[in-house]
Amino acid sequence: MNQLNHVAIIMDGNGRWGLKKKNSRNMGHKEGLNTIEKIIRETIKKKIRFLTLYAFSTENWKRPKKEINFLFNLLKDFLKKKTNQLNKNGIKFKMIGSKKMLSKKLIEILLNSEKVTKNNKTLQINLALNYGSKNELINAINLIKKKKINFSEFNINKHLYTNNLPDPDLLIRTGNTNRLSNFMLWQLAYSEIYFEKKLWPDFTIKNYNKILRKFKKTKRNFGNI
Ligand code: IPE
Ligand code: IPE
Ligand code: MG
Repeated sequence: MNQLNHVAIIMDGNGRWGLKKKNSRNMGHKEGLNTIEKIIRETIKKKIRFLTLYAFSTENWKRPKKEINFLFNLLKDFLKKKTNQLNKNGIKFKMIGSKKMLSKKLIEILLNSEKVTKNNKTLQINLALNYGSKNELINAINLIKKKKINFSEFNINKHLYTNNLPDPDLLIRTGNTNRLSNFMLWQLAYSEIYFEKKLWPDFTIKNYNKILRKFKKTKRNFGNI
């Protein structure tokens, strides 16, 4: 049975769900929060140590201003309301991505959630926000250049937003779309990948557990036989 330390999820399909069910993409984003809470609870139950959630990509700035504002307000409200609860549940919160382009207020809220939860050990949640893998790699390369140190695998790992984290063992993308959309291109080099047809708001604990079970039984070779 495979060890499962780190699950990464591309939470896709909110917009389509919202349009279909409520005639509004934004209502899909709101509904998606319920799935996030359910998946967090189940991840703790399964004793998985790291959960990385893709919430906003460097490419998502192309969306209409109204949707972008809605998304960021949703996130601010969520963190303001739920940070204490995250803390009580032993969750360590961390944002990964570029802080450039984020509002002062949002950065303040993110830093506060990180600070409040920094000593927790049960589950670490990495929220990928204004995250793009290419941006992350360029950022790492520039830091390494500045320090005049070697371009080794070790040094690259150390200068990514995900420094100190093990690579994801498992990537799940919901929403019936088979692509990576600039997510963790370096870190996913040997991850098991599951594309799930269901839209994120419809994704259930049962669907999640089915993928976890399948993962556990997969033979991971890492180049060996
Ligand atoms: C994913 O859902 C969430 C974000 C990118 C913020 P989408 O908003 O991409 O939903 P679809 O893919 O348009 O249905
Ligand atoms: C990926 O979903 C980003 C997030 C889930 C945050 P998108 O819906 O933005 O991906 P593309 O643009 O369809 O590839
Ligand atoms: Mg999408």
